[in-house]
Amino acid sequence: VTHARQRSARTSIQVIAHRGASDDAPEHTLAAYRKAIEDGADALECDVRLTADGHLVCVHDRRVNRTSNGRGAVSALELADLAALDFGSWKDREESPDWDPVPGELTSVLTLERLLELFTEVRATGRPLQLAIETKHPTRWAGQVEDRLLRTLRRFGLDAPTADEPSPVRVMSFSARSLHRVQAAAPALPTVYLMQFVSPRMRDGRLPAGSRIAGPGMRIVRSHPGYIERLHRAGHRVHVWTVNEPADVDLCAELGVEAIITNRPKQVLSQLGRV
Ligand code: G3P
Ligand code: CA
Repeated sequence: VTHARQRSARTSIQVIAHRGASDDAPEHTLAAYRKAIEDGADALECDVRLTADGHLVCVHDRRVNRTSNGRGAVSALELADLAALDFGSWKDREESPDWDPVPGELTSVLTLERLLELFTEVRATGRPLQLAIETKHPTRWAGQVEDRLLRTLRRFGLDAPTADEPSPVRVMSFSARSLHRVQAAAPALPTVYLMQFVSPRMRDGRLPAGSRIAGPGMRIVRSHPGYIERLHRAGHRVHVWTVNEPADVDLCAELGVEAIITNRPKQVLSQLGRV
């Protein structure tokens, strides 16, 4: 019985593709998200930033230097500037056995809108894919990131999930203020509070107001496994980032976390006995 229960706990962990299947394809591109969908990921993760002309694009770093052939801060560039860049070729230089360079839209800058189109297409086939969107450096923009995000989600009918089914979309952030804003404007949207370390105020497992789900980094899980139990006892689900190593996947499964955010959805799904 115990083995059967352990097995079912492992197979029920949600596998979230971090920046898409970002080990195999250039992060935050359509190529990476298509690969994650093909690999069977339960959910997709993306970071969003505002361009100089107010568009939300999926880029992790403040600057585009690492992941494109251009230079400069996303916040100083317009969408048209970003659209002229190639977000795929940096990956050609990495050793990624599964990556065959593809030109065009698959490796150009990805707007949140375009990602939501793909997401909506997949859900229309009946697959319950989910999306975890992270607001990056929202404090610099005094609410503009959240406003734009919620307006975009509204356009896709994704800002007000009903209680009947799990919300297709959740919003994550390292900024409690950002999540508080989201919660105030769209109370039914789940929020995930990302943590790099455990602040003394939160040792008992409580999260800041407006945050529903706990998002500890793998380093916290390794060094304070007891904290995961406290989060659970305080009534929070636990989504861990970024879990790429088999030993870390096993530890997360043993601790009964609800979701794993990984660059390697295919390997993690197979390790958890899902494929
Ligand atoms: O999913 C959370 C994780 O992505 C946070 O760290 O730096 O990869 O955005 P980062
Ligand atoms: Ca992120």
